[in-house]
Amino acid sequence: MIDFTSALYLGMEHAGGAARWPSLTTGVPAALRVPDEVRDLEGSLGALFGTERCLVGPSTLHLFFDLILLMAKGRLVATQQDNPRAGRTPGSGVMSIHVDRAAYPIAHWGVERAAGAGLQMSAFRHHDPEALARQLRKCRVGVHPLVVVDGVCPGCGSAAPIPSLLEVTRAFGGALVVDDTQAIGILGVRPNAQVPLGCGGGGSLRWHGVGGGDVVVVSSLAKAFGVPLAALGGSARLIEGFEREGETRVYCSPPSLCHVHAAADALVRNRRTGDRLRGRLVSLVDRFQEAILRLGLSTSGGSLPVQTLQPIPGVDPVRLHESLLAHGVRSVLASSRCGRGARVTFLITAAHRPADIDRAADALAGALRAAA
Ligand SMILES: Cc1ncc(COP(=O)(O)O)c(C=O)c1O
Repeated sequence: MIDFTSALYLGMEHAGGAARWPSLTTGVPAALRVPDEVRDLEGSLGALFGTERCLVGPSTLHLFFDLILLMAKGRLVATQQDNPRAGRTPGSGVMSIHVDRAAYPIAHWGVERAAGAGLQMSAFRHHDPEALARQLRKCRVGVHPLVVVDGVCPGCGSAAPIPSLLEVTRAFGGALVVDDTQAIGILGVRPNAQVPLGCGGGGSLRWHGVGGGDVVVVSSLAKAFGVPLAALGGSARLIEGFEREGETRVYCSPPSLCHVHAAADALVRNRRTGDRLRGRLVSLVDRFQEAILRLGLSTSGGSLPVQTLQPIPGVDPVRLHESLLAHGVRSVLASSRCGRGARVTFLITAAHRPADIDRAADALAGALRAAA
């Protein structure tokens, strides 16, 4: 069976065996003590993301649990500088929350916690800066918006229009939180026609060439880097506030040191071979797209590894998925908040071989014949 369900986009695995960490946990919450290796990793992650500072947490759930509530309550100030258009520092008062309707559920859970605490929240149309602007115009004057989006949508696989969303957010003196889990290790600086993913793997902010103290990044490292550990990047002021106020840093175990060492190793590998792996990934995605174009099909996702088939008239995605399985190809069958109904997705990784892509295309051709 050829598998197209793994999100280990760079094919990074972390074989066990050589124990290089002194213990799995310090026994001390992150609020009390942060080991040197964690500080070193946080420094490297900040440099990768292009944010002033970074901290790690056990998962995106832990980070979102605290982040949205604290920011929306005005307890975490996003930036050092005052925003001249806002007349006040973003995040220095209670904020209204605006979340992309199709954002990954974990960001929504963080938003729901804040809504449960009485803060105002609303959802706007997926990847639509105009819809966001319309919503913000209706908000109370003086309440700054906290806008929450995924850098790359795990459902349709496409990149969010971050520069336009940021422009709208800034015009209303707000702050933007980007869940960059799908983009870290994939997108990077200076994209062009030859290198569509850009270089370095620093994520959406790097790819779009945007940044600033009013932009906050949350990312799991469990996809491209293969390490189930999460990071929060932002201004030094925001990170200091999170270290002081984050309840999960007091009541939950800190990230396992095994994962911290694996993440440090993944960043070294990213520096050494990441661009080559991303180049390989792009050529596999190109090969896949050319093959399915010959079948008269198309996908969303551009050069990114999440390739979701556009609906095929008269073909039931559930039957298509089953038929692919019968042809020896495992794809993802899922419905996401950004589309209607179930869709079939192929997750392509640098560990696939060109022959795997050809097998997938043959299986699709066979499945379509069976469905006709
Ligand atoms: C956009 C996004 N955010 C968050 C997560 C969850 O990551 P984790 O549970 O590793 O923190 C995922 C997992 O697929 C994701 O795609």
